[in-house]
Amino acid sequence: MNKHSSIAGIRKEYQLQSLLENDVDDDPLIQFKTWWKHALESKIDEPNAMTLATTSTSGKPSARIVLLKEINQNGFVFFTNYKSRKGNEITENPFVALLFFWKELERQVRIEGEIKKIPTEESDQYFFQRPRESQIGAWSSPQSRVIENREFLNENVLKYTSQFGIHNIPRPDFWGGYIVEPDSIEFWQGRPGRLHDRLHYVLTEHNIWNIERLAP
Ligand SMILES: Cc1cc2nc3c(=O)[nH]c(=O)nc-3n(C[C@H](O)[C@H](O)[C@H](O)COP(=O)(O)O)c2cc1C
Repeated sequence: MNKHSSIAGIRKEYQLQSLLENDVDDDPLIQFKTWWKHALESKIDEPNAMTLATTSTSGKPSARIVLLKEINQNGFVFFTNYKSRKGNEITENPFVALLFFWKELERQVRIEGEIKKIPTEESDQYFFQRPRESQIGAWSSPQSRVIENREFLNENVLKYTSQFGIHNIPRPDFWGGYIVEPDSIEFWQGRPGRLHDRLHYVLTEHNIWNIERLAP
């Protein structure tokens, strides 16, 4: 196979920027916000798309994309169906990982920590801001369950549309937000010759963030 058409032949030299100890904030959430700002400024498509990895007690991992909806001083918030596969795995094991890949900036951010449900009032607040169609969608989809066919969803949409009529749609109790409270965050910046910069923040038992450099 021609070297340029093979998968193994796909390679890119990273050269946009560096990431040095002097460049970063002591607090990884503030550092994340700085990189987040850069991601917004560089008009990356869906910079809020992040991979969420979970594991059940069997130890088998699973991963999927979810959308970041808020960053606060405690962590990273997203919304989903609490009875989905991810929801069930989170109930079994609350330790999860998040991953952002912002290829236009040659950056990756790896986050690990414990996940918790956000308070119900905050889930309500977000649910009520969603378009009506998405609210009906949340009621209509038993996320991750095997369903007969597409018609099943269409029928559910008709059923809930008629059930709620013109009234406000309540949040289903099986749908809401989670927050990932990090104890480890790594910022990765691509560099030439595969000698990338990796700065790893680890939360110590005294609740202080230590920064260490990892070999690429
Ligand atoms: C760009 C993108 C954004 C997504 N955002 C969400 C989200 O915010 N919440 C969610 O539950 N699923 C989201 N999904 C769907 C999930 O990837 C996944 O299919 C779904 O949550 C079921 O996962 P599970 O069966 O592992 O629980 C998104 C998918 C893509 C590709």
